[in-house]
Amino acid sequence: MYTLNPNLFIQIENGEFVLWDYNNHEQYALEPDYLNRLLEWSKGSVTDTNSIDKELLEANLLVREIPTEEKWGWDVLSHIFHKGTQNIPLTEKKLSNPDEWVDEYLDFCEGIIDKQPNLFTEHPGTIIELPKPDISLYEEGKFINVLKDRQTCRVFNGETMPLNYLSTLLFTSFGLIHGEEWNELSENGLVATGMRKASASGGGLHPEEAYLLVFHVEGLLPGLYHYRPQDHKLTRLKEGEFEDKMIDLLYDQYFSAGLAVGIFISGRFDKAWWKYQHSRAYRNVLLDIGHSSQTFQLCATALGYQTWITGAFQDTEVEKFLGIDGRTESALFFVGAGIGEKQGIDQRTIDRLISRK
Ligand SMILES: Cc1cc2nc3c(=O)[nH]c(=O)nc-3n(C[C@H](O)[C@H](O)[C@H](O)COP(=O)(O)O)c2cc1C
Repeated sequence: MYTLNPNLFIQIENGEFVLWDYNNHEQYALEPDYLNRLLEWSKGSVTDTNSIDKELLEANLLVREIPTEEKWGWDVLSHIFHKGTQNIPLTEKKLSNPDEWVDEYLDFCEGIIDKQPNLFTEHPGTIIELPKPDISLYEEGKFINVLKDRQTCRVFNGETMPLNYLSTLLFTSFGLIHGEEWNELSENGLVATGMRKASASGGGLHPEEAYLLVFHVEGLLPGLYHYRPQDHKLTRLKEGEFEDKMIDLLYDQYFSAGLAVGIFISGRFDKAWWKYQHSRAYRNVLLDIGHSSQTFQLCATALGYQTWITGAFQDTEVEKFLGIDGRTESALFFVGAGIGEKQGIDQRTIDRLISRK
């Protein structure tokens, strides 16, 4: 007869069962009778159809054809997110020509501009000046060599990074390399709702924030710092030797020891919530963080450094350590730079491999 739509989940909210059909982006407040009926269908105990089934069928909660079993390799949460954020049109109505498209977009932007969250994150702490970025440091590296030289390193030797290298690295990876204004917008009388950096970012929102763990940088006390692209300065958040703390936060990835600097990159969800209300924008935030990570790695490589990156860390503990709430802003990635051995596999791993043979 019929079968249950396989892409459903139920949430209990304000005294109601809210049923989500996450493939079709529909939600229903479900009366208990309807819920019970779905349960009966799920148990396979239905013998005769009734009037509720007719409604369930119309709403596509029951389907006529048994969907072919499609194997999904992760748990249901990722399936909900993947399917639930697919096929989201840019606008609700079909726009018949480019003028309508542009008008719709401009109306949308004008409608949200007064609710714009702060573009730049401010943290209390000691403001630290950085030397002027020295772009000439990039003059020697050939682009193709930089691309080839970037490789994940897992052996760092704790060598000190000069401060002008750190300053340049931060400026080109996370800074406003095009200046403070988004000229193309301001010259055309448009209000900038974002900014431009070396990496692309959805809507120019640049949700990424850089939190530096300084281990070995000339002239900077070891500690935790936040980078301020708006004036190319640092805010010192905590002083201290945090290498052991970092390794602990990174699920004991011991080969991160010896980095000159490590950076937790967080994502400001509140910026994305403001401009892109559908949870598809969560994808964009992750993509943006990935872009900034790649830019950081290429810049560090061009400056003669090795890099190591990880997405494996204790998120909540990291967020507590950084002093961010984990809700409007969440830690998403870690990138590090230092002088190393150009080895992706460290000696300990090689030795263990040999001893296991
Ligand atoms: C999203 C992402 C997550 C990663 N997570 C880890 C990690 O947890 N630990 C690690 O040592 N390397 C991690 N890496 C580095 C990869 O292992 C590395 O990029 C890959 O082996 C390819 O080597 P290459 O970077 O030298 O080209 C990660 C890389 C990416 C892009």
